[in-house]
Amino acid sequence: MNQTAVPFDGRARYEALMDVVRNRMTSRAFDGSHVVPREHYELILEAARHAPSGANAQPWHFIVVTEPELKTRIMECFRDEQIQRAKLKMKFPTPDYRGLATAPGFIVVASDFRWAKAFPVLNEGSALDAMYKENAERILLQSVAVATMAAHLAAASLGYGVWWVTAIGQRLAQEAMKPLLGIPDPLSVLDIMCFGPPAKPPYKRFKKELSEIVNWNRFDPAHFMSDAEIDEWIATGRHRIMYRDAAKVD
Ligand SMILES: Cc1cc2nc3c(=O)[nH]c(=O)nc-3n(C[C@H](O)[C@H](O)[C@H](O)COP(=O)(O)O)c2cc1C
Repeated sequence: MNQTAVPFDGRARYEALMDVVRNRMTSRAFDGSHVVPREHYELILEAARHAPSGANAQPWHFIVVTEPELKTRIMECFRDEQIQRAKLKMKFPTPDYRGLATAPGFIVVASDFRWAKAFPVLNEGSALDAMYKENAERILLQSVAVATMAAHLAAASLGYGVWWVTAIGQRLAQEAMKPLLGIPDPLSVLDIMCFGPPAKPPYKRFKKELSEIVNWNRFDPAHFMSDAEIDEWIATGRHRIMYRDAAKVD
C-alpha cells in the first residue's frame, strides 16, 4: 500500500505500534545462551535504515558484535569507566555492566562528527560559525538517536528486552574501545545497543503523565522546575526511577 493511502483513522495500526512502544523496556541482564539469528540483526537494522536524519545525511554506522571475547573486552572498558567514576565520586547510580558480556544481541552505534558539516554551518571559524556548529552537532546526535530508537523498537517487536548504553562516550574510553572494533579515529562510538531474552522479567519504569509534559500554544509555567527542584530530584528521585534492579551509587 502506498504511504499516502494510509487513512488518518488507522487506529489499529496505532495500537499495534503502541503495543511495541509501551512494551519496550530496558533489561540489563539477558539469557546468555540465546543465539540471535543473523536475520534478526538484519530486521532490526532495517528499521534503523529508514530513520529520518538531518539533510538525510544518515550519519550512522552499526557494528554487530557476535564474538564473545570482543563483548567481554568492551564490557571491561565499562568496568574501568565505572571504577574511574567511583574514584571521581560522581555519585551517579551505576548498573551492573557485566550484563554486556553475555548480551546475545550487541550492536555498537557510531557516528562521524565530520558530518556536522552537512548541516547549516559557515565553516569559517567565527563565533557565529561556532553557534551553528553547536546546533549541527545536535542535529547529528538527534539523527543517530532516532535511528537507534527505530532499532530498539524493532528489537522490542521481536520480543527482546533492550538496553541502551551510552556510559562510555568519553575520549579516553573511546580510545580504549575503538581499536578493538577497528573503528577509524574520526568516528565516535555514541552508544551500544544490547538485546536478548531478559534474564528476569522486565518491569515498566515510571513515566511522566502526558499532562506533565505537554503544553498547548504556550509553555505551561507549572512545568518549569527551579534549579533547586532539579537538584532535589537528582539527590532523592533519580536513582529510584532509574533502577529497581542491581543499582549501586558510585
Ligand atoms: C540516550 C540514553 C542513554 C542511556 N544510557 C544508559 C547507560 O549508559 N546505561 C544504562 O544502564 N542505561 C542507559 N539508558 C537506559 C535508561 O536508563 C532507561 O531507558 C530509562 O531508565 C527508562 O527505562 P525504560 O527504557 O525501561 O523505559 C539510556 C537510555 C537512553 C535513551
